[in-house]
Amino acid sequence: MKYLTQTVQKGDWKAEKHVPIIHLPEEVKAGEAFEVSVSVGDEIAHPNTVEHHIAWIKLFFQPEDSKFPIEVGSYQFAAHGEAEVFSAPLIQAKMTVAAKGTFTAISYCNLHGLWESAAELVF
Ligand SMILES: [Fe+2]
Repeated sequence: MKYLTQTVQKGDWKAEKHVPIIHLPEEVKAGEAFEVSVSVGDEIAHPNTVEHHIAWIKLFFQPEDSKFPIEVGSYQFAAHGEAEVFSAPLIQAKMTVAAKGTFTAISYCNLHGLWESAAELVF
């Protein structure tokens, strides 16, 4: 049996176009709002067609003292060239946290599966 988590792929976003890239401020403070964004294809553009596209991105944050990750948001990209309309794989969230921790982003390509990356939030 193969579990879903065993299928999640990783890589260097500079060389692999599927890897989500988490953009964080250099430093944040407890309780102060900050913005985090996630994109796919900053270095090597991923195709965005009806046949081949990034369908969604999910973003999680796990505070360092928490046992489980918290879902920050779930973003569905629905337009991939129909009537020349394209939704690009870029999302942004504004949030506050009480402790430093780890962001994890997971993206889904309809042809090449699940891809993940992680980034540390520094206080
Ligand atoms: Fe792909």
